Formats: sequence, C-alpha cells, structure tokens
Amino acid sequence: MTTRIVKITFLALILVSSAICGQVKLSEKYNLMPWPKKIESNENRVKIVNDFTISINKKEGRVYDYAVNILRRITNRTGVFVERGFPVINGKNATVKVDFAEVAELKLGVDESYELKVNNGSVEISSKTDIGALRGLETLVQLIDHNDSEFFIDGVTIEDTPRYDWRGVMIDVSRHFHPMEVLKRNLDAMASMKMNVFHWHLSDDQGFRFKSDTYPRLHELGSDGLYYTKPQIKDIVSYANERGIRVVPEIDVPGHATAILAAYPELGSKDGFDYKVERFSGVFDPTLNPINPKVYTFLDNLFAEIVPLFPDAYFHIGGDENEGKHWDENKEIQQFKSKKGFKNNHDLQTYFNIKLQKILAKYDRKLMGWDEIMTDGMPKSAIIHSWRGVNEGFKDGTLIEAVKNGYQAVLSNDYYIDRLQSVDHHYLFDPAGDVPLTKEEENRVLGGEVTMWSELVTPLTVDSRIWPRTAAIAERFWSSKEVKDLKSMRKRLAVVSLQLEELGVTHLSYRNQLLRNITKSNKTESLEVLTSIFEPLKIYTRNEGGTEYKTFSPFTLFADACVVDAEDAYKFNLLVDSYTNNPTVEESEKLQVHFGKWIDGYTKFKELKKNPILNELGGHYKNLHKVSSIYLDVLRGEGVNKSRFSEIEKVIEELKKPMVDTELVIVSGMEKLLKTLKSKGNIK
Ligand code: ACM
Repeated sequence: MTTRIVKITFLALILVSSAICGQVKLSEKYNLMPWPKKIESNENRVKIVNDFTISINKKEGRVYDYAVNILRRITNRTGVFVERGFPVINGKNATVKVDFAEVAELKLGVDESYELKVNNGSVEISSKTDIGALRGLETLVQLIDHNDSEFFIDGVTIEDTPRYDWRGVMIDVSRHFHPMEVLKRNLDAMASMKMNVFHWHLSDDQGFRFKSDTYPRLHELGSDGLYYTKPQIKDIVSYANERGIRVVPEIDVPGHATAILAAYPELGSKDGFDYKVERFSGVFDPTLNPINPKVYTFLDNLFAEIVPLFPDAYFHIGGDENEGKHWDENKEIQQFKSKKGFKNNHDLQTYFNIKLQKILAKYDRKLMGWDEIMTDGMPKSAIIHSWRGVNEGFKDGTLIEAVKNGYQAVLSNDYYIDRLQSVDHHYLFDPAGDVPLTKEEENRVLGGEVTMWSELVTPLTVDSRIWPRTAAIAERFWSSKEVKDLKSMRKRLAVVSLQLEELGVTHLSYRNQLLRNITKSNKTESLEVLTSIFEPLKIYTRNEGGTEYKTFSPFTLFADACVVDAEDAYKFNLLVDSYTNNPTVEESEKLQVHFGKWIDGYTKFKELKKNPILNELGGHYKNLHKVSSIYLDVLRGEGVNKSRFSEIEKVIEELKKPMVDTELVIVSGMEKLLKTLKSKGNIK
C-alpha cells in the first residue's frame, strides 16, 4: 500500500468508527427499532400539543388512512386532546408534513426509503413512494419522548432505507387456526416494525384453511370448520396492502398434504390408506401422487381459484419434508421412476415441482418453495426458501448454496421462533452469514422470514411467541449489518415491546388471562414471580416426538404462560456476573431483592386454593424457596453452616429438572453465585 492509500484508509476508518460511535450514543437516547441507516441529532424540538396536525401532499395512495391511525396512536400514547383528528391535505403550518412523490405498486423491491427531518417547529417526512412515507410515519411514532411536563419529538435528521427487500413473518394457520383478528393485529405490529411480507401457510397435515368452491370437500372434511372464505382472504390482502405488506400464500405439497387427502383420498399415493386430518405434530407419510394426472388437474383448478385473491408475483408451494415412504410403497410410482430414469424420489419431486411451476407460470405467478425444491431443472426465477442450515447437515446452509447456484433466496433457518430461543440468538444471525459472497450472490439474498409454526400455539398465545423477538429480527432484516450491539437492542426492545401492545397484539397481557385460569382466581402474583424466571422448554423438547400434545390439547398451561427471555432471570443472571466481578454490599443487596421476591412468592403461593394444575408447580416452588432462603442468609452474612450450605447443590440439581414443560433459567446464575460465595469464603 502506498502512504497515500494508508492515510486514506486510516481516515476512512476514523470516519466509520466515529459514525458508529455516534449511532451508539444516539441509540441510548432513542428507542428506534429497526435502527435507521443514518441518523443525526439537531437542536430542534417539536412539542405534541393540542394543535398537533399531520399534513400530506396528496390524498391518493396509502398515506392518508395510515396517518389517521397514526394520529390515534399519538393521541392515545400521549393523552393529548388533539383538535384535528384527521390529516389535512397540503396544510401550511402542520406539525408533521408528509411529502411523497408517487403511489407505489406493492411488489418485491418497491422503494421504501424515506427521510425525516425535525426542523423549526415541524417534522418533515419525504419519500419517493407512499410506502416509504408509511415507514417514516412509524419512525415518527417511535421518536415521541417526554419529560415531566410535555411530550415532544427531539431534533433528528434521518435518512433511512432497508438493507433487505424481503422482511417477512410466516404464520402457520394449519396446525392451529388463527382467526382474522389475530392476523390483523399481527399485520399492524409487523408494519410498525417496517416488515413487508406476510407468508400465509394455509395448508398442512392438520388442516386445509381455504374455502374452495371448486373442491368444497377440502374445507368440509379437511378443516374442522376453521377456514377463511374468499372475502376474508381479500380483506387480509387489502389490509396488508394498506400497510405496505405483501401476502404470499402457501399450499404445501406434495407432502404435508394429509388434510387435502382426507378430503380427496384418490389423489394420494397409497390406495386404501385411511387418510384423516392429523392431530399430532411431525412429518407424516400421506403424499400426493405425482404420476396421477388428476393431481395436476386438481392443483391447476385450485391455483386458478386461489391466485386471483393474491396479487403478489410469488406463490409458495411448500415442497418440504417429503420422505417419500408412500411413493416407495407404490409399484406404479416405482415403475414410472425407472421408466423416466429418475434415480431417487428427489428426482420425482423435481418432476412434480416443474409441473407446478408451469401451472403457476400460466397464471403469471413465480414459484417459491422450501429449499428441497432446489434441484436441477428448477428455473432460476424460483425463490428458494432456506430452512435447513448447519444443524441439518448443510455446511454453509441452504441459503448460501442457493445464491451460489444462481437463485434468489430468503432465509428462515435460525429465525424459527417456535424453537423458543433467546432473542440474542436470532438477532446475531445475519441473513447473508459470514461466508464470502460475490456482489451478485449477495444481491440474491433477498432477506429473511420469521417462521411461526403453530403446533403449540393458539390465538391466545401466538403473539407471545412472535413478539417481541420478531421486532429485533425485523431490525436484523432492515438495519445495517454493523447494528448488532445486544445491550442496545435489549434496551430498545424493552420499550418497543410495551408499545407493540398499543397495536393490539397481546404478547404481554395474555399472561394474566392464563394465570387466572391456573389459579382459578385473581390472585396471580405468586405465579407472575415464576413466569419471570421459568421459560418454556426449547428446541422442540416440549412435545418431544410430537405425541405429547394433540391439536386439541390444552394450551393454557403454565408453560404457555411462560415466555423466552424471562425478565427477572435475565436481570438476576447479569447481577450474578456483576456481583462476581465486584462483590460489594450494594451488589449483594440487589441480589437479595430477587431472593426475597422468590421467598415471598412461595408464601403467597401457599395461600392459594389448590387445584390439579397448580399442584404441579408446588415442588419446584418449595425448592426455590428453600434455596433462596439459604442464599439470602449467606448474602446477609447470617452465619450459614456447612451442612445447610451444602443443601444448595442438592436443591439446584432438583431445580434443573423440567417442571411441566418449563425450565428454571436462573439455575446457571445460582451455580455461578455458589462458586463466587465459596471462593469468597462466606461459608462457616
Ligand atoms: C419446515 O420447517 N419443514 C419448512
């Protein structure tokens, strides 16, 4: 390198690092999520008082109705009685002035960028498209701050644009049906996080959820009466469109098709098989017969009925987890394979997929499918939906394989929120990963999709599995790769999580309903103590083998009331770290508060009228009480003898055991604290 290049590189490094430092500082002040591409502060401040108004440069497009909603959200958030409850068109002295150039057709790659400037006395949002303006309005709501006397928006200049064009949430409505209001409130929450794809997993072994006129047996025999009508689908698609969200339908074939075959068994691969809507979770054998011409007529007619309801260019055909057992058992299918020179079932499935791709092309739709569809012969116009990664034996994951093979791809592997892993895990997982890619390959990474598989969730609990973690994942999809500070994310997410409930999602409030059902009373405090330190079992260890729960089992249990990233557990484990590094009286007292809470919780728990659901919690609660009392005495310096102290280890071993499909996530903190206390010689 020449001296000049070294100097320039050095200068560039200083500029980049100061920009990042600047961002870190501003992220302490603002609770924006997703974090914008560029943000600077200025000295202006706009107050939110009763003459607050929003002006828009024109009424066409999505902005006017969206802004009506934004006004309601601002008045509700602030309690300010605004005089003008509706936006004005081209108002002169408005508090917020929105200016967009064109009404966009909603499609992959639509311009969603915007600029937001707090100037003297007003906020200006400008964008190329109306969709960009919606994204800017969401940022506006997140900028609202307050002191003891007023609400305001402090001076910033933001230039923002998404990193990825595909920022989706998939909701599986087959394993458990989710009614219209569940979908709508989640679309609202998605829009607030600037997400732009709703992938609607409409069919699977456990239910077919579209009311077909051509094939009425599908909903009559394959849905338990739980399905969407065409007007309902149109309603969701238009509701999503108004929020700048595309809707991609999925009809999962040729596997995951038990519900279809319960209605039309003649389309199956195994004659005489007793096809019945599946009640368990897992991967099942019923599979459409790829050599039966009637299967293609059926799918052609079905797609002809579905496609007009979904204006999006993409149609998802599933294609995952076909183990081909029924194909292997069918002589004619085997003969067909040999005749065609197919080496395996994968070749046969490719034959099936290509036929579907041609049917969809007839209806001007492009095919998307789970990564199993990536085989020779699949046109590069198809989108590969990557769900299998390193854990499934793919060295760099199927997304990398896909983009290197020339396909556009969307990543879901590691955004499987039904695995109930911490937000930190998902947040740090980048769609493009760390494998070096060429510019073209990188451009083929369209983005990512959170997958909400519904085996273990109902309309009551589903929001608590989607939110708030999906907000952090939305940031991963929107913001630059460098935005990855966990502490900052957690701080902002805590605020955003509360705000999400303003939109109707119930990920926080649902819990009380469940706890009241468990205690059969309003006295839920002692259980709230537990839900703050227990989490549901992770990575499918709840419902191991898919046979503990059926679709109609109760999902109103203690495990359902627990969520990932249990709040007190997170705080306690951090406190143990800081006490270990710095064992002061002050740090000790903070820990004592937690132990005190668990002791008090058990006292209250014992006062509850017992019932069978509640009884299952008693053993662990008693042990938690026991171990907390010992820790508390040690931390207070109240001489604990060796034999009492040694009980800690025994009790912790008990507490490590799962409790009705949950785990106590303070155990590692307790063990660490034990080590620290031992090394400090606090034990007599
Ligand atoms: C999948 O999880 N089978 C796509």
